[in-house]
Amino acid sequence: MKKFLTAVLALGFAGSLALVMWVKLRTQTSASAEALADTQAGRDLKALMQVPDFAFVNQRLETNTLATLSGHVWVANFIFTQCKTICPLMTTKMVQLQREVADPNFRFVSFSVDPTHDSPEVLRAYAQQWAPQETRWNLMSTDAVQLEKLTSGLRVTAQKVEGQADPILHSSVFLLINAQGQVLGIFDSDNRQDFARLLRAAQNLSSHESPAKLPTTGVGLYHSLSCANCHENAALAPSLAGLLNQKRELDTGLVATADEAYVRESIVSPQAKKVRGYALQMPAYDTLTPTQLSTLVEYLKEIPGEPKAESGRLEQDVVCHMKVRVVEETLQATTDAGTFYFCSSYCRERFVTGPQLFIH
Ligand code: HEC
Repeated sequence: MKKFLTAVLALGFAGSLALVMWVKLRTQTSASAEALADTQAGRDLKALMQVPDFAFVNQRLETNTLATLSGHVWVANFIFTQCKTICPLMTTKMVQLQREVADPNFRFVSFSVDPTHDSPEVLRAYAQQWAPQETRWNLMSTDAVQLEKLTSGLRVTAQKVEGQADPILHSSVFLLINAQGQVLGIFDSDNRQDFARLLRAAQNLSSHESPAKLPTTGVGLYHSLSCANCHENAALAPSLAGLLNQKRELDTGLVATADEAYVRESIVSPQAKKVRGYALQMPAYDTLTPTQLSTLVEYLKEIPGEPKAESGRLEQDVVCHMKVRVVEETLQATTDAGTFYFCSSYCRERFVTGPQLFIH
């Protein structure tokens, strides 16, 4: 429950979303995860429930149903392409799974929880951006009726919240599903141990082919590890061009110099020092070898592009008081008192329904 509340708060305050989304878990994820910890991951998992049937068109315009996936072990999650908080993190994890589970017969499925926006074309562009080489990934465009049937059957609910435009509730779970369409486990991708368990279980259930090797060049690592997907999108993460030896403002209010130690720490344990003004949590890359880490750091020193001290100035969200970085996509509202900037559509809507409550 605490985790759930934290997730809700994090989304409420930190989301710079077009839609605020939130899938509520009705099952006891942590309890089932702990039970799993003791089992030999993957092999003796018991079927928890049957996945309800569905028929959705994927990014390649193929219709996918439970039957077209039968015979494949697969991992599923729920995302939407305009999400700027948790989804980039989940997709980074999805791409990592794809890299580490080499079995050609394995499948990866991301159901969109935003039927109105995420068409097969939009999903194709998203797949192209995140995993251009991957042929086992199906990104499903959905419709509201079937989505509701699927999520309630899986005990994962996309819910509307009173008083908001079109919010859907959303969480970071991944489901592991066997060749008969039964859910074997529910894992929180945002939890290190849970994700490691999912990875082990998926590997145990797949043919033992060696995972795709990571490239040995800096630029190769930068792209394969999804760094570019976040860091080349100013709305998600700071640009890394010309970062070395710059002063960085942290969310604690302190200022740090981005020397080599800072850069290494940012990659291995990003929670240690967080740059101010970003809602998104960067994943920890703590399993890189020392050589991979050094190669990456050397590459960061020479990333082409103008040194950008700040991509956008900081403004305070008058609703939640979080600092937001003002870039083109930043949510805003203009009143007689001026223009105001928001971390999320949630804060913006609260503001526009009663600006006088927030302007002092
Ligand atoms: C899911 C999105 C995401 C991915 C993937 C990601 N990052 Fe980040 N990164 C962030 C965000 C957001 C921040 C700013 C908040 C913070 O400091 O944690 C950040 C901060 C950083 C910083 C500190 C930057 C500064 O301006 O001080 C460095 C260095 C960095 N990331 C390197 C990397 C590298 C290298 C990779 C790939 C191995 C990577 N990141 C992958 C989102 C991401």
